[in-house]
Amino acid sequence: MFQPISRALILALVVFLMGCGTPPPTPAPPSAAPIATPMPPATTAPATAPAPKGDAANGAKLFVANKIACDGCHDASKPLPGGEFAPNLGNIATAAEQIIKSPAYTGKAKTVAEYFRESLLEPNLYLVPGEGYTEKDGSSGMTQDFAKTLTPQQVDDLIAYLLTLK
Ligand code: HEC
Repeated sequence: MFQPISRALILALVVFLMGCGTPPPTPAPPSAAPIATPMPPATTAPATAPAPKGDAANGAKLFVANKIACDGCHDASKPLPGGEFAPNLGNIATAAEQIIKSPAYTGKAKTVAEYFRESLLEPNLYLVPGEGYTEKDGSSGMTQDFAKTLTPQQVDDLIAYLLTLK
C-alpha cells in the first residue's frame, strides 16, 4: 500500500522544483538595427507663450560689443545691490520684478521685459537709487541715446539677454 509521503520529502521536492522553475535566460536574438520610425512632429509651444522676439545669445554679445559697451559701466557677473559706476546686473531679471512692484518705482513698466526696454530707451523715467548713478543735473548716468543708436532688433536681443540674468 502507499505510504504517506513524508513532509520532509514534499519540502525537498518543492525546493527542487522551485530551483528548476527559472528558465535559463534566453539570449536576446541579434537585434536588427532598429528601423527609425519617424516621430510625429513635436507639438509646438503652447499658443499662450509667445515666442521670444529677441536672441539672448546675440544680446550677450552686444552687451560687450565695442560700440555699445554696456559692460563698460555694468558688471553682469555680480548681483544687486552693488555696482561702482552703474548697478550690477547679475540678478537683474529677479531684482526688476521687485523694482516694478515697489512704491518707489516711477516708471511705466508692467513687466520685467518692459522695464528693460524702458531702462534702455527712457532711462530717466526711473532712476535706480545709488551713489554715482545719477548725473549732477538729476538725469540717469546711463547712456542716453540708445533709442537712436540701437536697432529695434538689438534692443530685443539685449532684453532677451537681460531676462536670463536671474
Ligand atoms: C555710461 C555708463 C552706462 C552704460 C554704457 C550703460 N549703462 Fe545701464 N545704467 C547706467 C546707470 C548709471 C544706471 C542707473 C541709473 C538709472 O536708473 O538709469 C543704469 C541702469 C540700467 C538698468 C536698470 C538697472 C536696475 O538696477 O534697475 C539696466 C537694465 C541697464 N542699465 C542696462 C544697460 C544695458 C543693456 C546697456 C548697454 C546697451 C547699458 N545699460 C549701458 C549706466 C550705464
